[in-house]
This record gives sequence, structure tokens and C-alpha cells, in this order.
Amino acid sequence: MVKTIELVDGVVRMLDQTKLPREVVYVDCKDYLMVARGIKDLWIRGAPAIGIAASMGIAIGAAEIMTDSYDEFIKGLETVYQTLLATRPTAVNIQWAVNRTRKLLEARKEDSVDTLKSFLTQEANRVLEQDIEINKTIGKWGAQFIKDGDTIITHCNAGSLATGGYGTATGPIRVAVEQGKNIQVIADETRPVLQGCRLTSWELMQDNIPVTLITDNTAGALLRKGEITLAIVGTDRTVSNGDVANKIGTYSLAVLCRENNVPFYVAAPLSSIDFSIPTGDLIPIEERGPEEVTSIFGCRIAPEGVKVRNIAFDVTPAKYVTGIITEKGVFRPEDLHKLNEEGADLESIMLKAE
Ligand code: MRU
Repeated sequence: MVKTIELVDGVVRMLDQTKLPREVVYVDCKDYLMVARGIKDLWIRGAPAIGIAASMGIAIGAAEIMTDSYDEFIKGLETVYQTLLATRPTAVNIQWAVNRTRKLLEARKEDSVDTLKSFLTQEANRVLEQDIEINKTIGKWGAQFIKDGDTIITHCNAGSLATGGYGTATGPIRVAVEQGKNIQVIADETRPVLQGCRLTSWELMQDNIPVTLITDNTAGALLRKGEITLAIVGTDRTVSNGDVANKIGTYSLAVLCRENNVPFYVAAPLSSIDFSIPTGDLIPIEERGPEEVTSIFGCRIAPEGVKVRNIAFDVTPAKYVTGIITEKGVFRPEDLHKLNEEGADLESIMLKAE
């Protein structure tokens, strides 16, 4: 499995995903501003992966703050946080990384700044390692819903490239394959940035998982013919009522799945769940520049001067979601908020395969 990101000797090394699959090139980000640029320009993308990049950016940003005073260190970090938070608004994982760091540092006021700097580096590496473990757990919970012979559609890339490794939506797929189930994956190409075409099909092929690439418009036709039996997608931010923000086109796919009685699952690590927002209407949705739509790899395909809307994510209402696969188990969207309640009996509300 290819490495998405690592922190080595104060440098954040990320795979430049804009060049895949034509070239496998790593970029060394020597300061936090370059990490922020890498997130904004999609060298690294996918909600958990940008959360990890943010944790690493914080660690190398912290190393640049020259002070012995705890208060000045915390003040200096605020600039790092705000720069990283300004990169991409929809995925909650950058906010998650910032909140986590704030909380950890709050409890370490007695430590020297040097100690805190090394601590943040260790923490960033921990976030990466934990992410891989979480994806494997998501995989185990989710695989129960995959039957031998299933054909599973996925949208965008919620695979190892979008995470520290293993993937969220690809987690159950990988476990099902490990369990010896004979399955097929259908990857939506995912216009305009083509994450399904360039990334999902590439990484699954590398791991010998049978995958077929389709244009986004083909999903409906295959669902109607009964050629797709299950959908699993990732999420950038799932909120308290179970509404799911994910790559543009996810909503259309979910509606098509419902119309054709195909179960639609969302793989969501807790780091991508925002319990502070009650409904999906309040999720900030990123709009990106027109060039992603008007050109492909620098080649213009649209008429000069055409008006463009490039909305990067959409919100799938909870009513279209069969289950949300987390590291704590699989839940109906309407029960998701209970994960945030102390003492909730999760075992009793967990979805289990028949
Ligand atoms: O714009 P991107 O490529 O960052 O969008 C990524 C997605 O929409 C993924 O499905 C989502 O982040 C989940 S990744 C495990």
C-alpha cells in the first residue's frame, strides 16, 4: 500500500495526488505554510488525510515558534491553526486536529516549550497510526454487510490515499476481500478532479481488488439493471442528525440507490463526525475555482469565458443513508447523536447484518 503522508525529521512528506496515476512524486514540506498550500492545492486530500496533514503542519509550525513562554507559544500556534483552517472548509478533520491540539496543550501548561514541541511531533505521528487502526476497525464492522458476490459502488476516493492508510470506505471492502468474499468494486470517475478515476481505481488495482471504472452518469443505468448491490462512500463531515457531506455527486448516487433499493452506507471515523452541527444545511460547502471544470490536466475543454459553478461537496440527507460505519460500530443515521451521549447503550442500537 502506498504511503500518503509521513513526518520525518521535521519535514512533512506528502504524496502529490494531483500527479497520480501518471507519476508517483513526493513533496517535502519544510514549513507549515507549505503544508497549508499542499492541503489547499489538493496535493493531499480526503478528510482524514488532511486532518493528519494538519496535525503534522501544527507540529512543524510549532517548531518554528521561537519563545520559552507557554503563553507566547500558544499565541504563535493560533496563527498556524488559522492558516490551516482557512485551507478547506468542508472536511471537519482540520478543525478536529486543531481542537485536539488545543485540548492536549491546555493540560500541559507546566511543560517547557521544547517539551511541548517534541510532544506535538509525537502526537502527529500518533494521529497517523491511530487513523490506520480506526480504518481497519471500520473495515471489520462494515464487512458484515458485504456478501459474497456483491458489486459495490463507491464515489470519489475514500481509500488509503484519503487517509493514513487502508481507507474508510475501502476498509470494509479490504476486509471482505481478506475474508475471501468474491466482490467487485465500481468506481465513479468523480468529476471534476477525477479522484475515482485517478486514485480509487489506481489504488485498488495495486492491491488486486477487482475494480471497474465508470463515468458518474453511468451509475443510474447500472443500478437500474441490478448490476450494483451495495454502495459505500466516505464523508467529509457527517453531522448530528445523520446528514452526510461528501464529494459532489454523492447525493445523486444516494437518491439513485434508494430508487433502486440498494443499501447506501457511509464510512465515517469519529474524527469526521461533527456533533456540534444539528443538520447538514449548516455545513460550510467549499466552492473551488472554475479551472477544475474548464480544463483537464491543463488542456482547456470548455469555451473561453463560460460561466462555471464548481461546488466541491454536497449534502446527502440522513433519510437516504442505510447505516453509518464508525469505529464504534454501525448505526442508523437517526441514532448517530447517541455516540456523543455519555453512558449511551451503543450495543443495543448497533446495526447488525441479518
Ligand atoms: O476534495 P477531496 O478529494 O478532498 O474530497 C474527498 C472526499 O469527498 C472523500 O470521500 C472524503 O473526504 C472521505 S475520505 C476517507
